[in-house]
Amino acid sequence: MGLFTKKPIKQLMNDASDGEKGLKRTLTAANLVALGIGAIIGAGLFVRTAAAAANNAGPSVTIGFVVAAIGCALAGLCYAEFASMIPIAGSAYTYSYATMGELVAWIIGWDLVLEYAVGAATVGIAWSEYLNKLLEIFGWHVPYQWSHSPFEVCDGLGSFAGQAGVHGIMNVPALFIILMLTMLLIRGTKESALVNGIIVLSKVAIVVLFIALGWGYMNPANHAQYIPEPTIYTDAQGIAHNYGGIWGILGAAGVVFFAFIGFDAVSTAAQEAKNPKRDMPIGILGSLVVCTILYILFAHVLTGVANVNDFRTQGKEASVAYAINTYMAGHQWLANLVTVAILFGFSSVILVMLMGQSRVFYSMSRDGLVPPVFSALHPKYHTPYKSNWIFFVLVGAFAAFVPGDIVGDMTSIGTLFAFILVCAGVWILRRTDPNLPRQFKVPAVPLVSTLGIVVCGAMVAGLGITNWLRLAGWLVVGLIIYFGYSQKNSKLK
Ligand code: ALA
Repeated sequence: MGLFTKKPIKQLMNDASDGEKGLKRTLTAANLVALGIGAIIGAGLFVRTAAAAANNAGPSVTIGFVVAAIGCALAGLCYAEFASMIPIAGSAYTYSYATMGELVAWIIGWDLVLEYAVGAATVGIAWSEYLNKLLEIFGWHVPYQWSHSPFEVCDGLGSFAGQAGVHGIMNVPALFIILMLTMLLIRGTKESALVNGIIVLSKVAIVVLFIALGWGYMNPANHAQYIPEPTIYTDAQGIAHNYGGIWGILGAAGVVFFAFIGFDAVSTAAQEAKNPKRDMPIGILGSLVVCTILYILFAHVLTGVANVNDFRTQGKEASVAYAINTYMAGHQWLANLVTVAILFGFSSVILVMLMGQSRVFYSMSRDGLVPPVFSALHPKYHTPYKSNWIFFVLVGAFAAFVPGDIVGDMTSIGTLFAFILVCAGVWILRRTDPNLPRQFKVPAVPLVSTLGIVVCGAMVAGLGITNWLRLAGWLVVGLIIYFGYSQKNSKLK
């Protein structure tokens, strides 16, 4: 048995159904769509949109959203086929174990840590920005050094006037929210899904409200040059970005791609779905369609209300609240409402990501690729509580000590890489196992799967060399662990 050993699909299904010890099946199709939207609308929309406009594309960030949505839809179809065929926990990891063998499965499982764990950290950092906006209403905020990473220096603008030159030490609010949600998650999926449902409703409501009210405050001058001329823009941290033109749009697509991450997290809950074969495709594609429409409208309004220079300076943090307060006179209440809803909304995103992470490692642990501690279930709540605590330490460290832009882009590139492998996997499995029953089939394979690879690949290209190197470094660490531990302990072996 070697690197390319595949896990037989029959065995996968047996493992999944092995009795009382497993995870509980409690989620319906509606729960899954809510879970998807809960994971999807978050920091990508409320924080990364402004970053992509500032660094990459100006108003044409909306076109970036379209590109990202196309990539996600193509990959989403592939996810849906897999999820309807292999409806058990583990997402892309499990799919690739069945199709491309153990080494590729390991690479994906390891890569998904970027998506879920590092993604949760990114949103935790965004939560910290909006918490400070909320506290400002009461005339206070967490001092710069205790709400930023050691790699950030205050520019003295906006909320932190008078603190220019101060270095961050640790992002305490980000760490705090990760801790709270880890504890909630340990209590169990059903309770978490209920809390999530309430949050999803308020999150969608404020997005719609901002679009509707902001529409009348758009300044045509901000949209005058919709696609800026190509140039290089160097941000406050000294990182150079391709700004404007096609590369700007592709770069923006890679950045705001973050806003779509999460619809695939639905697939990690397959083992907890009541009727996974029917409900997984509904959950994945349904949540994707709703979000795409909202995003394009939202980005159009945001870049119309405030301008690129705002997003590079005072409006860099908590950009939506900034835009409302600065340009939409008389709508302070909306800024406050948005801030509160965002704080809850980000929490649901973090929750789903932490859950996705622990479920992927649950599957990997049952396969022997990571230690048994990751699949130990709580005697009462039936949740992988030890895994939740271990990931609290990892996610907390990223949230407390690394800047949001860096973890955000690492999340995007890691997820895009997983998407590419899933698209390839669908095609491979069609060839190697054409007769497997598939409740949902991607149309026009290999055209659709190949287009998925091309579009996601273009976004990876747009993210630039710094991010390619970070991804490569992460994968090298993963390979060292695989050959040092996982290969020897694999159950299939
Ligand atoms: N899509 C999620 C967000 O934007 C990860 O926060």
